[in-house]
Amino acid sequence: MRISQRAERIEPFYVMEVAKAAQTMAREVAHTDRPMLFLNIGEPDFTAPPLVQEAAVRAVRAGATQYTQATGLSELRERISGWYRQRFGVEVPARRIVVTAGASAALQLACLTLVEAGDEILLPDPSYPCNRHFVTAAGGDAVLVPTTAAERFQLSAEKVEAAWTDKTRGVLLASPSNPTGTSIAPDELRRIHEVVTRRGGVTLIDEIYLGLSYDDAFAQTALAIDDQVISINSFSKYFNMTGWRLGWLVVPEALVPVVERLAQNLFICASTISQYAALACFEPESITEYERRRAEFKARRDWFIPQLDALGLKVPVMPDGAFYAWADCSGMAAKLGVSGSWDFAFEVMKRAHLAITPGRDFGTADTGRFVRFSTASSMAHLEESIARLRALAA
Ligand SMILES: Cc1ncc(COP(=O)(O)O)c(C=O)c1O
Repeated sequence: MRISQRAERIEPFYVMEVAKAAQTMAREVAHTDRPMLFLNIGEPDFTAPPLVQEAAVRAVRAGATQYTQATGLSELRERISGWYRQRFGVEVPARRIVVTAGASAALQLACLTLVEAGDEILLPDPSYPCNRHFVTAAGGDAVLVPTTAAERFQLSAEKVEAAWTDKTRGVLLASPSNPTGTSIAPDELRRIHEVVTRRGGVTLIDEIYLGLSYDDAFAQTALAIDDQVISINSFSKYFNMTGWRLGWLVVPEALVPVVERLAQNLFICASTISQYAALACFEPESITEYERRRAEFKARRDWFIPQLDALGLKVPVMPDGAFYAWADCSGMAAKLGVSGSWDFAFEVMKRAHLAITPGRDFGTADTGRFVRFSTASSMAHLEESIARLRALAA
């Protein structure tokens, strides 16, 4: 059967291959004194807090399970708008918010709305692989621009200007980023947006980890810069609801009917049960719990990163958000007699029963030297992981 060019151009998500191998290994070592530890997983180890769970059960019992409007429950759009007001001091009218099936659907809608066949979208290297695949799936060309630690592994206005061609349509950024947990400084973001606007392009920014910010210097939404910025967000990370498949998109007013039309056709709506549940995310009791969990994520980062550094797994930029550590493994790989982060990740899996993610998925520039650790795991697991890595390095 002939496969579409579009599908052929999407690369595999290598993280999943590593995860599959880790699962197989986990079964083999389950009953040993060193069962598998998973620091490869990019989702919170917490689940939705009690009020959110109860709201979901209430929605099911009340039979509130019909389709909603394609743009989402108006009450939920209002709550999200209120969240921008309270947390970031930014006015984002509910009518500009479109509720989606996770950030993934929001990214698809944004790309399908804006990307024409052959358009180029600039993304930082390294970055979350699916983001470039959403561009490809929409017929565009994702252009990875190599970044450095000095740039916090983010694009700069200068690099955007230099990479811009006649075909460039815009930038797709993520702040804080997966895999680095680093954000774009607000002044730099403003400058990037100025370049993009001057060139007649669009600034798309994935702010899925914005709720998990640990540094006030970066904890601001790009929507504060300009209402022409398109921001993607989610209930997956800060709100701990990965499997509930709920997110949102903020677009300029003129784009709402277009996105709505696409959403009606492609998805009808996001999960109704999840939408009713998510209303409870914004109750003071839930926010208190989310803030406690954010503090826990920060405490893990503060402990874990210096430990990696001490082992020679240098994290060149302290993450200011999310739950990742992007570490240079070249020194330790050489010690273990392997070269490259792909082989290093498998060696660590085999010898320490520890699953981590090699850089390969996230780009091509320097990703052969880097691995991603996720700190979305308990302190006990993080401590045990460090102990095993220390033993390996000895
Ligand atoms: C940067 C980034 N964007 C988007 C997503 C997709 O998230 P969602 O679960 O909201 O679809 C992820 C998931 O890990 C991510 O890391």
